[in-house]
Amino acid sequence: MPLPKPRLVGALLTVHDETEVRRKERELKVKSAMIQEIHHRVKNNLQVIASLLRMQGRRSESEEVRRALHDSVGRILSVAVVHEFFSQQEARVINIKDVSQRIVSHTRQGILQPDKRIRLTLSGPSIYLPAQQATTCALIINELLQNAVEHGYERKPGGTISVNLRDDGDKVVIAVVDDGQGLPDDFSLEQADSLGLQIVQTLVQDDLKGRFELREGDGVSAIVTFPKQTLGGEGAWSERE
Ligand SMILES: Nc1ncnc2c1ncn2[C@@H]1O[C@H](COP(=O)(O)OP(=O)(O)O)[C@@H](O)[C@H]1O
Ligand SMILES: [Mg+2]
Repeated sequence: MPLPKPRLVGALLTVHDETEVRRKERELKVKSAMIQEIHHRVKNNLQVIASLLRMQGRRSESEEVRRALHDSVGRILSVAVVHEFFSQQEARVINIKDVSQRIVSHTRQGILQPDKRIRLTLSGPSIYLPAQQATTCALIINELLQNAVEHGYERKPGGTISVNLRDDGDKVVIAVVDDGQGLPDDFSLEQADSLGLQIVQTLVQDDLKGRFELREGDGVSAIVTFPKQTLGGEGAWSERE
C-alpha cells in the first residue's frame, strides 16, 4: 500500500525578539553620548567665563581686583576640569589623580611671581569618585594649592609644594604640603573668615562630611579627610597603581 504523501499540517515557529533589547541598548548609548556632550558644553562655557574674567582682570588698575579675579578664574577652571574628564569618557566616576594633575598644571602656569622657584608635585594612587565629590575635591585642591603658592613663599625664594592623595578604603585623604614660611603668628583656623579657607571649610564639612586641618611643621600641611560616597549602590571605587 503506498504511503500517504506527507502533508504539512503546521509549523512551530519560535522567534526570540531582540528588537526590544537592541532598542534599549541604543537608547542608553544615545543618552550617554548626550551626557558627554553636555559635559563638553559646560566645560566650554566655563572656559569662556574664565577667559572673560581673565581679560577683565588684566584691565584693572587695582591689585585687589586683579587678585580677586585671578582667584575666581582658578576656581572656575578647576570645576571645568571635572566636566572635561566626564566629556571624554563614558563613566560615572572619575580619577581625582588625573583631576589633581590638571589643577597642578594650571597652578604652575598661573604662578604670579615667576622669579620664585616653586616646584609642584603630585603623588598617590588613582582614586575614583562620583561627579559631585570630584568637583568638590577639585575646588578644595585648587584653593589649598593657591594658598601654598601665594602665602608660603613671600619671605622665601622658593621650595616644594606637594599634593598627596591617599586611599584608606572607605576614606580618602588629600594633603597639600608646603615647605614655606608657615602660618602667620596670630592665625587661627576657627577665626579665619577670609574667603579661600571659608570655601574649603564649608565644602569639607557640608559636601564631603569630612574633616579639615591645618598643621604646622616645616611649612604648612593642609589635610582633608572624608568618607567615600556610595553611588547608587555601586560605590566609588579605587585602584592602586
Ligand atoms: N600654605 C600657607 N602658608 C602660609 N600661610 C597660609 C597658607 N594657607 C593659608 N595661609 C594664611 O591664611 C590666610 C587665609 O587664607 P585664605 O582664606 O585662602 O585667604 P586669602 O588666600 O585670600 O588670603 C592667608 O592670608 C594666609 O595668611
Ligand atoms: Mg586663599
